[in-house]
This record gives sequence, structure tokens and C-alpha cells, in this order.
Amino acid sequence: MALVTTTEMFRKAYEGGYAIGAFNINNMEIIQAITEAAEEAKSPVILQVSAGARKYAKHAYLMALAKAAAEDCNVDFALHLDHGADFEICKSCIDGGFTSVMIDGSKYSFEENIALTKKVVDYAHERGVVVEGELGKLVGIGSGVSDDDMYTNPDEVEEFVARTGVDSLAIAIGTSHGAFKFAGEPRLRFDILEEIMKRIPGFPIVLHGASSVIPELIDEINATGGNLSGAKGVPEELLRQAARLAVCKINIDSDIRLAMTAGVRRVIAGQPEAFDPRQYLTVGRDEVKKMVLHKIYNVLGSANTL
Ligand code: G3H
Ligand code: 13P
Ligand code: ZN
Repeated sequence: MALVTTTEMFRKAYEGGYAIGAFNINNMEIIQAITEAAEEAKSPVILQVSAGARKYAKHAYLMALAKAAAEDCNVDFALHLDHGADFEICKSCIDGGFTSVMIDGSKYSFEENIALTKKVVDYAHERGVVVEGELGKLVGIGSGVSDDDMYTNPDEVEEFVARTGVDSLAIAIGTSHGAFKFAGEPRLRFDILEEIMKRIPGFPIVLHGASSVIPELIDEINATGGNLSGAKGVPEELLRQAARLAVCKINIDSDIRLAMTAGVRRVIAGQPEAFDPRQYLTVGRDEVKKMVLHKIYNVLGSANTL
């Protein structure tokens, strides 16, 4: 099948009250696990690539693997740049075959963010590529940033979307990246999300830092000699609630890392004689696929929507 943009996916997701999973890719096994799960569940999916992934695997390898997955699987998917830090990386991914890019200007002032985002949008749209922007900061526990500075300000979203022309908007309502998201009770600011929906009705919203940090995976990693005590993610029922509202894209990377690590550790710990990478990577890949299927059916609600 083909690499497509997110336009049609988001339109259907908004209307249908579900979200599309945007899963981070770093190698062949992860790409196979995600696309095979999407095909099996008849679900749309987004494969996203960070600057770190491009550094690790190189653009050319990831591009070739994504194209191979598109040929191998009977499902269209979007190939997206995650957290593009500047115009140059966005340009490189647009020129290099991605169908979607994120320009993350959230660390800049409102006006600087608008100028940078608009520059990327102009370049991308001329070439048929869609753009995700970000307003608000996804800071983690103990960052010292006050709530007012961190959450997306609903008063800014309408102007940001109108002046930049972005196709989707990442917002900050309490999630953060990684496996240690909340010191106390997990809490998302649905009041802010609902206010944003009033200001930009029908507009697709993106939730970063949306791994649930699945407790069973943490338990297995800890039971095989790892130490991830205190890890905590976003409860799945909160993600399901967000997906029923305007959140059309839910970003998941940490849960992929945990699934792969739990699978690989199980083999290494249980079979000390094992030294064939195909043996433990097969189990790692199976765990990632199982996790993606779980998300599609139980969290995103995107199964059987193709
Ligand atoms: O948002 C960050 C993603 O989880 C990517 O992480 O930069 O380590 O590849 P990375
Ligand atoms: P997690 O660390 O919660 O998986 O978030 C990933 C993400 O937001 C990628 O952009
Ligand atoms: Zn992110």
C-alpha cells in the first residue's frame, strides 16, 4: 500500500470519536510489529521518526524500511517527523519522502513559534506534506516549571492555527515524555482540552507523552533484573476519554521501548545459553505487536475503521 498524509485519517477519527496511534520507529522489528498489528486490526496508523531515530538508524534506512512495510502490509500509513526542532530537519524529511512533519516551536515565544511554524507550513504544503505544530510545554515531574507556563493557553490556539495554517496541534494538558510521568495521582486537564475544542471546533488535536507505562511490562522488567520502580504513565481510561474528544493522534514511544525490553529480557533471563539476536528480537517484536494491538482495540478505538 502507500504512504499517505494524515488529513483523511484525522477527519474520520474526529467524526468517529477515536484516535490514531503514532508509534515511534527506530528499527526493522518495531516497524514490522506496528504495521502488522495495524493490518491485522484494520486500523490506520502513523509511524513517527525522531531526530534521535534518524541519528541511530539513518534517514535512508528508515525510509527504505517504511517503504518495504508499505509494500508488505495491506494498510496505508503516514510517515511523520516527531519533534522537528528547526526548519532544516523538517525540510530534509519533506524532501526525503515523509508525508507529515512536526515543527516543535514550543520553546520559543508565541510570535517566534508562529513565524517558524508558518515557514515550515508554507514549504510543506507546496509539496503536499502536512504539518503538526505545538503550543504549551510537556515538562516532566520536578521540572520546576509552573502550571501556567506549562499548559496550553486556550486563548492562543485560534490565532496560532489561523496564522500558521497548521494541520494539527499538539497541546500540553498534563502529559510528559518518558516512563516517569506523575509523582502523585495522574491527572489530565480535560477542562483545557474542552476549552480548546470550543475555540477551534473540528480541529485535530495531538497528545504527546501518552504512553500508559503498562504495569505488566514494568513488573516483568523488574522481575528479570531491571529496575524501573516508580515508573508511571497515563491511565488508559483517560486516553480513551481524550480520543473520544478532539484528540486524533496519540503518541506512544515509551510503551514500545518497554514491550521490546520486557520481551528481550524474558529470553535472556530464561535462556542463559541464547545468543542468536533473532531469537530474542523475535520475542521483542512479538511483544511490541501485542502492545500495539492492545492500544488499537482498547485505547485508541481505531480497529476496523479502514
Ligand atoms: O518525544 C520523544 C520521543 O519519545 C523520541 O525519543 O528522541 O529518544 O528518539 P528520542
Ligand atoms: P511517551 O514517552 O509517553 O511514549 O511519548 C512519546 C511521544 O510523545 C513522542 O513524541
Ligand atoms: Zn512527543
